[in-house]
Amino acid sequence: MLFAHISDLHFRSDGRKLYDFIDTNTANAEVINRINSLTEKPDAVIITGDITNCGLENEYKVAKRILGHLQYPILIVPGNHDNKSFFLKAFQPLCPLLGDNPQQIAYKVDHDEAQLLFIDSTEPGTHAGQLSDYTLQWLDNALDQSNKPSYLFMHHPPVALGNLQMDRIGCQNGHELLKLIDKYPHLIRIFCGHVHRTMFTQYKQTIIASAPGTVHQVPYSSSDPTDLYCLEPAAMLMHRLVPKTGLVTYSQPLTQISGPYRYESAISCPGD
Ligand SMILES: [Fe+2]
Repeated sequence: MLFAHISDLHFRSDGRKLYDFIDTNTANAEVINRINSLTEKPDAVIITGDITNCGLENEYKVAKRILGHLQYPILIVPGNHDNKSFFLKAFQPLCPLLGDNPQQIAYKVDHDEAQLLFIDSTEPGTHAGQLSDYTLQWLDNALDQSNKPSYLFMHHPPVALGNLQMDRIGCQNGHELLKLIDKYPHLIRIFCGHVHRTMFTQYKQTIIASAPGTVHQVPYSSSDPTDLYCLEPAAMLMHRLVPKTGLVTYSQPLTQISGPYRYESAISCPGD
């Protein structure tokens, strides 16, 4: 079992750049081509939110077109920059487990040796996270029904990470998720995005980690509240289930290097 995990793509509309100078659309297209060129093929690509920057329908058209080039199943959740209705319209065809209710995005993927859980931590109208009653109950039920090692994917980290800029828009009721960690010893990983940086911490048996952004990152400061972004090297996380060891996670750089690329005629000449 191998998964590629990317986060916080922040697609813009056709011809637009992020902050008018960061070409997230082109950079993400390169990321997708690089994932397609991995010599060890992942079982799926996991995407933990902020697919678009402004939640605009035109941004989802770009995101759907470019993510549609991925040659693997996608497992995706929204982030605080997403519009959940547009998100579902764009990605439900690529990830049917999302269902069709933007208020109830939660699904699981069962494997022989583990279960993967995907939940929505966003609340419309705020960049901070909030786990709904529905989500918490769904998660409680899913963890109660299986005692396999469980890996949870969501956008907002459930705990403060000491980064003042991002903690201000952290998950407001993450303590409710910590209660489920207390209750279910087989919940052993929580993987997030949101903070645009690779970070790790632990609560009891559960390692809580975040994936960096595919294009732009967020500086880490425990004292400076200024909203900053930067273009430190991008990366994705790779999650591999290793016999006798369990889940091993490693970082795969996404910095701009030359190839290898594989020529794909369907992407090169799509007919439009
Ligand atoms: Fe983001």
